[in-house]
Amino acid sequence: MRDRFVITIDGPAGSGKSTIAKLLEERDGFLHIDTGAIYRVIGYIFNGSPNKNDILNLRFSIRKKDRIKIFWQKRDIEEFIRTEKCGMLASNAAKIEFVRDFVNDLARKIADTGKFVIDGRDCGSVIFPDAQLKIFLAADIDERARRRAKDDNVSIDDIKKDIEKRDYQDKNRSTAPLIKPKDAYEIDTTKLSIEGVYKSVKKLLEERYENNNS
Ligand code: DC
Repeated sequence: MRDRFVITIDGPAGSGKSTIAKLLEERDGFLHIDTGAIYRVIGYIFNGSPNKNDILNLRFSIRKKDRIKIFWQKRDIEEFIRTEKCGMLASNAAKIEFVRDFVNDLARKIADTGKFVIDGRDCGSVIFPDAQLKIFLAADIDERARRRAKDDNVSIDDIKKDIEKRDYQDKNRSTAPLIKPKDAYEIDTTKLSIEGVYKSVKKLLEERYENNNS
């Protein structure tokens, strides 16, 4: 194996990226870098519109053991960032080029040597264009809204509108918009179970691992 093996998983909100990345972490020993969580933390701290100095002075401490955890001012703010409101603040901050540069540098610094699975919107297209395996997850909007409504305990109709708005913004920004990298494998998760998606990714992974080791 080379010093580093990276799997990227990109796709819109609710397509199943984090769920699959977490399984790859638990079962296959890939450390999970959740770039959406980094944008969410920035969105949360600066209400969606940081200026350049805010970002220059931003310091996260990273604990990297069995899983990666990011602390801000020694605080774990994970529990505050999972709402759809914070998703939109993250999407607003993610339009800004210097914010993207900061997140890209941080992700590349974390993924030095070892096995990583990184999920977001531009992981295969911009952050790790040389990743060994690129996955793109898709699912229809009603199913994605249903999943999020279940997780967040809100109405499907409300969350659907919010997700559509966020998708539109993520796909249409000028810097690093959400796209399917041309060398990514697309999996439509609409009708698949979590185990079904994991199995498809695992099959691709085994093929890549063999190629990488031969
Ligand atoms: O994956 P998520 O829903 O937690 O991401 C929150 C927002 O962060 C998403 O709507 C857009 C932004 N984001 C991004 O622009 N690029 C990434 N690689 C990851 C997230």
